[in-house]
Amino acid sequence: MAAPSRLLIRGGRVVNDDFSEVADVLVEDGVVRALGHDLLPPGGAPAGLRVLDAAGKLVLPGGIDTHTHMQFPFMGSRSIDDFHQGTKVKEEMKILVQDKGVNSFKMFMAYKDLYMVTDLELYEAFSRCKEIGAIAQVHAENGDLIAEGAKKMLALGITGPEGHELCRPEAVEAEATLRAITIASAVNCPLYIVHVMSKSAAKVIADARRDGKVVYGEPIAASLGTDGTHYWNKEWHHAAHHVMGPPLRPDPSTPDFLMNLLANDDLTTTGTDNCTFNTCQKALGKDDFTKIPNGVNGVEDRMSVIWEKGVHSGKMDENRFVAVTSTNAAKIFNLYPRKGRIAVGSDADIVIWDPKGTRGCRSCVAFSDNGSVYKTNMNLPLQCLANARVHMEERTISAKTHHQAVNFNIFEGMVCHGVPLVTISRGKVVYEAGVFSVTAGDGKFIPRKPFAEYIYKRIKQRDRTCTPTPVERAPYKGEVATLKSRVTKEDATAGTRKQAHP
Ligand code: URP
Ligand code: ZN
Ligand code: ZN
Repeated sequence: MAAPSRLLIRGGRVVNDDFSEVADVLVEDGVVRALGHDLLPPGGAPAGLRVLDAAGKLVLPGGIDTHTHMQFPFMGSRSIDDFHQGTKVKEEMKILVQDKGVNSFKMFMAYKDLYMVTDLELYEAFSRCKEIGAIAQVHAENGDLIAEGAKKMLALGITGPEGHELCRPEAVEAEATLRAITIASAVNCPLYIVHVMSKSAAKVIADARRDGKVVYGEPIAASLGTDGTHYWNKEWHHAAHHVMGPPLRPDPSTPDFLMNLLANDDLTTTGTDNCTFNTCQKALGKDDFTKIPNGVNGVEDRMSVIWEKGVHSGKMDENRFVAVTSTNAAKIFNLYPRKGRIAVGSDADIVIWDPKGTRGCRSCVAFSDNGSVYKTNMNLPLQCLANARVHMEERTISAKTHHQAVNFNIFEGMVCHGVPLVTISRGKVVYEAGVFSVTAGDGKFIPRKPFAEYIYKRIKQRDRTCTPTPVERAPYKGEVATLKSRVTKEDATAGTRKQAHP
């Protein structure tokens, strides 16, 4: 990446999770150096300082997508790791945490014969996470029930995508969610439930949090933005493009319900689980839904979908939006306040956000029939946006205009009133008015430390004060029954029979 330039973001409304204020933000060497009023010197911008006018716009901490799969080898070929390899990885968790900066691990309760772990393995993995200060994440679905349910659907002749949801209804997700929380609680390990897809699973998490459990739920753009009625669509490819696990739910009130819980802190972060397959890849399961590669899009549209369904709808304010799209993730994964906040010393990962969907004037952008931008002037100065004469009121999501490689978009046709105008990554403008300036490989891995205070403070205190102690009592001095030295199989069976039929 070229040396980051100096930037002054002027006059925008800086929004953090706890506070909003109109302020200038000065960025140098990829870091926020100053935050305040009238930071532009009286003589105007000195050489080397680029001024971005953000008047009337929001200035947000860059979004943190907590859950994506890029180039993920999945369901096309069998994973090379057998159970032995899996166990060795468990032994390497400590090295990953202490030497490599990895502080979270995802365990699968689904995908039988591939990734699925038993309750005991979950117990051991959670114990290990707790010992090394990592956060345990689970994909919560009952893999055995899914495998049996799938056989049943195929026997009924249901081979299409609707079978995917029918073989794994809400209860399959809710049961595994409760089981994971119960096991984590037995170990006193913080737990993070990825891709919360159903009302039932979300209720389990909300109840557990109100019961004092250290558990966090991550709904995703898909579960907040659309629903599982698509599995019954007459077009096979349309239905198949919605196949993911856990599935979207046919109950159309699900997205609203999850958004309300997210707004009220029953759920905590938002990811996308972005895991995209083109139609020809989905078609691997054209005659058998169990062979459709699981996964949907979301990474490009997450912020706009959550703004639309969360803020535009009136369920949450701009500060809660920042909390659930950025700050909470930074706190949980121990990146805060370097990430997830606009403050002096924080990384300059910043989005200039148009809360009303104003996209530009007709002289600098071209529009498709449905009104979405399909071409933008490459040399567009930001001032052009500020001086726009004809404004768009919204953006309509479409696979025709999105930037992702996948040829389908599960949010097709969704009208969004919140759009990013400028994206700044570590001080560099990487997106502006529809144009990307990125170089492959510019992304940077940030090592994370274990024992994030946000999740481990209560855990440590509970270890100190809530560990059970034995009751002190005088030793029992009475008679003790004598057991036969060897209990035969017949004795044991007779005992069982006697109990069953007294
Ligand atoms: O269907 C999904 N969710 N695909 C990605 C893999 C996973 O389980 O997260
Ligand atoms: Zn998963
Ligand atoms: Zn995933």
